[in-house]
Amino acid sequence: MTSSRFDRQELAREIESRRAEFVSVLSSLVNSPSVSMQPVHSADCRRTAGIAAKLVEERGGTARLVETDGNPVVVGELSGPEGSPVVTIYNHLDVQPAAKGEDGWTRDPFVFAEENGRFYGRGATDDKGPAATALLGASLAREHGVPVTVRFLWELEEEIGSAHFESFLEREKDRLATDVIVVSDTMWIAPGKPAIPYGLRGLATALLVLETADKDAHSGVTGGVARNPLAEICEVIAGCLDAKSGRVKIEGFDRTWSPASAEELQGFLASGFDVETFRGSQGLRTMRATDAAEVTERLWARPTMEVHGIRGGYQGDGVKTIVPPRAEAKVSFRLVPPQEPGPVIDLLRAHVHKLNPDVQVIPEHGIRAYLGQREGPVGQAASDAFEFGFGARPAFIREGGSIGAVLLMDEYLKAPITFLGMSLPEHGYHGPDEYFDWGQAAGGMATFAHFLDRVASWKR
Ligand code: BES
Ligand code: MN
Ligand code: MN
Repeated sequence: MTSSRFDRQELAREIESRRAEFVSVLSSLVNSPSVSMQPVHSADCRRTAGIAAKLVEERGGTARLVETDGNPVVVGELSGPEGSPVVTIYNHLDVQPAAKGEDGWTRDPFVFAEENGRFYGRGATDDKGPAATALLGASLAREHGVPVTVRFLWELEEEIGSAHFESFLEREKDRLATDVIVVSDTMWIAPGKPAIPYGLRGLATALLVLETADKDAHSGVTGGVARNPLAEICEVIAGCLDAKSGRVKIEGFDRTWSPASAEELQGFLASGFDVETFRGSQGLRTMRATDAAEVTERLWARPTMEVHGIRGGYQGDGVKTIVPPRAEAKVSFRLVPPQEPGPVIDLLRAHVHKLNPDVQVIPEHGIRAYLGQREGPVGQAASDAFEFGFGARPAFIREGGSIGAVLLMDEYLKAPITFLGMSLPEHGYHGPDEYFDWGQAAGGMATFAHFLDRVASWKR
């Protein structure tokens, strides 16, 4: 255990006494449906930014909403004494779509509910709970006199690829100068097993569109002569991806990424990742691989192609005998360094056009893959902080998900980055009945407080 200005037991009591405050902060965020993907919620995104700014002000800090061509970014600050080191903590406050009764939701996703130490609602764990945890942990640190300036960067477009975060950073980079960046938007391996990623997969999404007629045609009248765009789109997808193995068949694709080193793969295995625990937490019935070495490599260090949805034709009850005029597939690739979205989409387009020249490939958004430092003082401080907060050392691994802001902050703010993620696999990122829990919140507050204390001690 590293030394700390905080007595762990006393701090735990203090944190326990602030549970109602945490609940009030998280519920005010969860009750505001900041679904960035859906234009009807754009006013809610803005309202959430306002609520969040007020949360910082109520704790003696300052906050401003920085406008972009999309949703604003909240820049909050709890200032330390003149000359204190600056720690920037990144979270996002936008969430994935959700609706009661859909996709397995048994509750109203935008009505906060507490049950047995669990906090339910869309965004509870991704990423409003961790944001509330960081805010209260930082506030505690300042109240205890930790000489540090904490700056919160709260994005409201993370779930749609961080399209305006770059221009925001470009304009604000001088005002946002920082000593350390902490990203709090990642997941543990399992309860009791924290993780600090040094890599994230990137993402490239695209629509495949094929139109072969003007309107629905009777399949008895036209069948045999009419082309079937749904079937052709399915054939194109099958030409790009071996569905059973997951192998991407696109020409040139495998020359664009590098496998992880043997040492890294060893580290993945040593992380304590358990295949059955993972399988259960994600509700997967069967998987493409079951060996821990292969599973972790596939999740964290190999690229993928996915089909998220196919649109077209008749979706109602029974079978309507029409030939549809149009088909659309939503696809994406998870990218592994040094893959970049643009060149991958170019390879897709070339391959698709060879398979079927009439299929249009329309890129949506792209995030480069990230590979950072595995060692260093900031990662060490983060590891010490997890040990202080939860009594467990984190595993240094890569993550399978993508966070567009990480690459951009790396590029524009040029400060060392580490990760203090608080989510558990069973909390259900993007899933139904998403929740966060008091154990992660309470331990997380202590973790943030200790981390800030460690960084403050460097400059004195
Ligand atoms: N918090 C996740 C990223 C993440 C996922 C980190 C899994 C660690 C493990 C983030 O909110 C997210 O969902 N990102 C999206 C980005 C996309 C929609 C542009 C993703 O990865 O799909
Ligand atoms: Mn997230
Ligand atoms: Mn997410």
